[in-house]
Amino acid sequence: MSGLRCQIGPSVLNADLSMAAGEVSRLVAAGADFLHLDVMDGHFVPNLTFGPPFVKCLRNNTPHALFETHMMVSNPEQWIEAMADAGVNQYTFHIEPVKDIEAVCRKVREAGMRVGLALNPGTPISAVEEYIPIADLILVMTVQPGFGGQKFMHDQMEKVKWLRNQYPLLDIEVDGGVGPSNISCCAEAGANVIVSGTAVINSPDPADVIALLKNTVESSLHKCSV
Ligand code: DX5
Ligand code: ZN
Repeated sequence: MSGLRCQIGPSVLNADLSMAAGEVSRLVAAGADFLHLDVMDGHFVPNLTFGPPFVKCLRNNTPHALFETHMMVSNPEQWIEAMADAGVNQYTFHIEPVKDIEAVCRKVREAGMRVGLALNPGTPISAVEEYIPIADLILVMTVQPGFGGQKFMHDQMEKVKWLRNQYPLLDIEVDGGVGPSNISCCAEAGANVIVSGTAVINSPDPADVIALLKNTVESSLHKCSV
């Protein structure tokens, strides 16, 4: 068996955020392996969401779930301590606006969180390659960050394939427009950490969608390891 684990993390971005705690509990009960929390600052992306106080409230309501914050912000270094304090497990930040990526990775780790490095669709793998050894996960965006409910960009699978070929044990995450209609492409390319927003949230049966995503990825992982 491969050492890779398939993990499905619903994004609550397009949920009814006035009922976020209930939504998070509902998704955990439906089989989510982690929660993907989209943090936007209105600078790095043209949208604003929420920050550490909100994440802390969710944490108080859901003490045991794994939380990933997807930091779509211009200065990810600024929020490390506050997010660690809010109970975040994995801090995934975009490399595009960061000058000293290594230093930010180090600070995230020192704060006790896993390190994720995110790439916009237009950012080549070469921009992140030298930091892969000091990261726990690479996030390949499959939409332009900023909004849920956009169309999945198939061309980003080339990056996922390349990463999987080079790094058989790396956690590779995809995020943006992912759902039942394209999960096979993600799985076959080699992604093992799957974010899905509207496909899960808008479904009458989120447990069913999460199970489908998980089964598809797990059968690909199994094929690769036999
Ligand atoms: C986009 C966000 C994604 C997205 C996921 O900026 O990072 O997490 O909202 O939602 P869907 O699956 O609807 O694209
Ligand atoms: Zn996201």
